[in-house]
Amino acid sequence: MATRFFEGKEHAALYQKYRPFASTEINSLILKYLEKKKGKPFSLAVDVGCGSGQSSRGLAPFFDVVVGVDVSEAQIEEAKKTCGLNNVSYRQGAAEKMDFKDASVDLVTAATAAHWFDVEKFLKEVDRILKPKGCLALHSYRFPFAMHYNGCSESLTQIVEEMYERLVPYKSERTQMVWNKYKEIFEAITFSDKERVDNILIKHQASISGIMGLIKSLSCYQMFLKKDPEAAKSLLEITEQRLLQAMGVSSNDTVVEITMNSFCLLASKPE
Ligand SMILES: C[S@@+](CC[C@H](N)C(=O)[O-])C[C@H]1O[C@@H](n2cnc3c(N)ncnc32)[C@H](O)[C@@H]1O
Repeated sequence: MATRFFEGKEHAALYQKYRPFASTEINSLILKYLEKKKGKPFSLAVDVGCGSGQSSRGLAPFFDVVVGVDVSEAQIEEAKKTCGLNNVSYRQGAAEKMDFKDASVDLVTAATAAHWFDVEKFLKEVDRILKPKGCLALHSYRFPFAMHYNGCSESLTQIVEEMYERLVPYKSERTQMVWNKYKEIFEAITFSDKERVDNILIKHQASISGIMGLIKSLSCYQMFLKKDPEAAKSLLEITEQRLLQAMGVSSNDTVVEITMNSFCLLASKPE
């Protein structure tokens, strides 16, 4: 069964603002794979669970047309607000039943999203819409992340890990699939031509307030906020104070580097 999250307008806005992880490393991995398996032209890419569109926009330079699909109306609204690219469009829809013709799509991708889908139905739909030799790419990153700043990287990473521990009880069991690096999803892919790439390290610069926003955008934080708003807000405030203190700075505009550990499943439909 698919799971509905990320539906609220406020959550979608947080997503748009704080999740800028269209990763060039992962995109180039996917494009190389598609080139090897199917070759050009790259006509149509479908980015499922596109959220506010970060992942779809990253594909724009490489495809004639990119379509972002998301079940959440609020996310699609956010995506449309910031689009501005002629070859990218967004539509509301479910991963399990997509509005594309049989054998019409070169690439189906899902960034940090496949664990929310009804995997069996989604994979059947992927098989239907992909062209022969067309490719599927499913990737995600895992929390918590490593932080780097002037000699106090270990302390900062530790503080984020401790904060994340408090969120664990609010995690959906779906996110366990991310912990398992999509092991179950990989096994469920029926295409025999499939592979996985692990430990893709993605570096990203963010201010401390940006990191707080990123934490706020997590589904487990949103669940904590719903169940115990005071405790959730206080956890963020305390975490921010601890980070600033460890860094010896007072401004939450101070920028640090974070490293996300990502993985990607790749598969190609038989001819
Ligand atoms: C964690 S967000 C990822 C957004 C974006 N791809 C990114 O990289 O930031 C997961 C998205 O999947 C969407 N989603 C969840 N279940 C879905 C389904 N069954 N069909 C389509 N989208 C779905 C959610 O609405 C949400 O926007």
